[in-house]
Amino acid sequence: MLPERIQTQRLILRSLDNSDADDVLEYQSHSEVTQFVPWRPRINADGKPGAIIRKTSNFERKGDALVVGWELRGENKIIGQNILTLTSVEERTANIGWVTNPNYWRNGYAAEATSAVLNQTFILARLNRIDAHIDQRNPNSAALAQRLGMTLEGVFKGASFIKGDGGWCDMWLYSIFAPSGEKVKGV
Ligand SMILES: CC(C)(COP(=O)(O)OP(=O)(O)OC[C@H]1O[C@@H](n2cnc3c(N)ncnc32)[C@H](O)[C@@H]1OP(=O)(O)O)[C@@H](O)C(=O)NCCC(=O)NCCS
Repeated sequence: MLPERIQTQRLILRSLDNSDADDVLEYQSHSEVTQFVPWRPRINADGKPGAIIRKTSNFERKGDALVVGWELRGENKIIGQNILTLTSVEERTANIGWVTNPNYWRNGYAAEATSAVLNQTFILARLNRIDAHIDQRNPNSAALAQRLGMTLEGVFKGASFIKGDGGWCDMWLYSIFAPSGEKVKGV
């Protein structure tokens, strides 16, 4: 659905494959990342640490997901990823998530990648609305949503169960729409 590669100022956005596993494991197993995402630090079937490289789907049916890796240009290194999930075909709605390797936080990479992914997805998937569900204890993620021009619509009380000592938590609902001819605010 998305082009094979999207080039931004500092990144190449592309699907992930098994050769990216070491880079992906760096952030998929990092405690600062896993505290606010639904998954635990990645472990293989044999009990050893191992990245999960999800294959991108056609993005046609409810639940279909697109995983977009962020490769640092010139370094052949994956430093983060977006996941887009189609939540309603009829209503042309999707959900988006984002993760940056903590060694690369505070450089604007998540904003650079995600604004490009949103722009392309609105156009190519003909979406109307994309939302993000963000744990209220995760201000870094809320700041990113705001930087992208997303609007805070409200709070889902006790909406998600985050593992560890987190328990049930309240989630912010952020959204962004595709006004015709306009681009998502970037950095
Ligand atoms: C959420 C997350 C992706 C945000 O990462 P981030 O690096 O803070 O976000 P950005 O890429 O937007 O970077 C913005 C920061 O880079 C700074 N920056 C530095 N150079 C920059 C540049 N060239 N361009 C833009 N911003 C730049 C900005 O000033 C800003 O810093 P500030 O917040 O101190 O003002 C990251 O915290 C993360 O991976 N968290 C764990 C996983 C997670 O919680 N995911 C979300 C689940 S809902």
